[in-house]
Amino acid sequence: MQTDFTTQSVTDLSAGCAAVTVFEDRQLSPSARKVDLASSGQLKKLIKGSLLDGKAGQQLLLHGISGVESDKVLVVGAGKRDQLDAACFGRIVDAVVAGCRDSGADSAAVYLSELAVAERDNAWKVRRVVESFAQAVYRFDQLKSEKSSDQPDRLKKLTYGIKSTREQAKARQASKEAEAVAAGKALAKTLGDLPGNICTPSYLADQARKLGREHKSLSVRVRGESEMKRLGMGTLLSVARGSEEPAKLITLEYNGAAKPGKPITLVGKGVTFDSGGISIKPAASMDEMKYDMCGAASVLGTIKAVAELKLKVNLVGIIPATENLPGGKASKPGDIFTSMSGQSVEVLNTDAEGRLILCDALTFAAKFNPDVVIDIATLTGACVIALGAHANGLWSNDEKLARALLRAGEYTGDRAWQMPLWSEYEEQLKSNFADMANVGGREAGAITAASFLSKFSRDYRWAHLDIAGTAWRSGKNKGATGRPVSLLTQYIIDRASGNALRRSK
Ligand code: BES
Ligand code: MN
Ligand code: ZN
Repeated sequence: MQTDFTTQSVTDLSAGCAAVTVFEDRQLSPSARKVDLASSGQLKKLIKGSLLDGKAGQQLLLHGISGVESDKVLVVGAGKRDQLDAACFGRIVDAVVAGCRDSGADSAAVYLSELAVAERDNAWKVRRVVESFAQAVYRFDQLKSEKSSDQPDRLKKLTYGIKSTREQAKARQASKEAEAVAAGKALAKTLGDLPGNICTPSYLADQARKLGREHKSLSVRVRGESEMKRLGMGTLLSVARGSEEPAKLITLEYNGAAKPGKPITLVGKGVTFDSGGISIKPAASMDEMKYDMCGAASVLGTIKAVAELKLKVNLVGIIPATENLPGGKASKPGDIFTSMSGQSVEVLNTDAEGRLILCDALTFAAKFNPDVVIDIATLTGACVIALGAHANGLWSNDEKLARALLRAGEYTGDRAWQMPLWSEYEEQLKSNFADMANVGGREAGAITAASFLSKFSRDYRWAHLDIAGTAWRSGKNKGATGRPVSLLTQYIIDRASGNALRRSK
């Protein structure tokens, strides 16, 4: 999407569809007032005759408004003026994007910066708007013989109204960030939506290599099972045993900082299909376990965004990728394996496989002398029960890191909620036969999973994001969300610009 910034008035600008907003009780925003004046009150009259009373997200598409250069005028409800917060702005933006797209126009003009949003600046608004426009073109129809022609991606150009040219540089930067995040999210969504028979561990490895070819600051290495064996990754390999698909350990190194230095390290769970193994899952909704590699997808998406923005950081991505299937060689409940860390694990439930592959990846991560390590995983159904689809679960052994991630989540709307990592929970992981068991019972299932991982990440600052509830949507609109690419990219943008602390909102 091409994005331009303009100081031109909404009435002078010629776009396929110009969007203006109206608050509750039909109070016109400044740009709506301009349209109303130019059309000698036509706008107000049409709104009055419509069902639109200004509730956030309502839409009204108008044609042939006099005194306006654009073909169509989209009126969108902006809610109560004094209650305009980040979430409400998001609803307004999404309605503007949907309305512009559905209008069939090839270009859109918006004046959303005129809306005052509590605690958010102009750059934030640009980010939100451009990201929403850029995302609107996402489709997953590559496996359908008929492409979704009901809503063709006609929208090619966005013109964004700003008050003065002084705002332009910041707005342009924000727009660049939004485009990069949207591209990263699109990659994560595509990989998530691809079925398990296509998106295998080898496919993920190929995608990583492809990303490596696209950016010369990025080098990619893929290790096979024999190398994992040499490294002593007994728990990772225990998961791969039940599948014919070879497991892959993918590493991506992005060197963007001026000097070599400790990298931010992302570790993403890459279970390309999780049947549960011998502790097999029920059939209902098992198809959704193709999304069990969304942690890995978010690592690739974030690296793509960071590389496109050429951020001055060092970043490492580690992806343990495997299937979890109940083949003849599959691990069985009660089996004991030794992890790369030397700690032994009794596998009481083969469906708690995420932690088994992550623990070896976390031990491996220490080799990169990381500044921080963040793992991202669709780890537990219990996290979905605890937080639903809205918040990523967050655990950390470092409060400063936790706060920085929470802030990045708040800023982008890709929010996280911190949960405890108290030693009391470790009790639940005790095993009679090994150093620990891989499950801790029904109670606090998301926490005991995090607690398991913490035993493998004692040597560095570490955070764990459980994205089981946020990475994809179920039901009629089933599909990957691209979360938490926004959160992660924002954290890295903040780190690169050294303002992780300054940006308090
Ligand atoms: N990939 C699943 C977690 C999951 C389940 C995510 C449902 C989203 C929706 C994970 O590998 C798993 O199966 N976890 C088990 C752990 C249990 C056996 C301790 C779970 O959550 O049931
Ligand atoms: Mn599982
Ligand atoms: Zn899983």
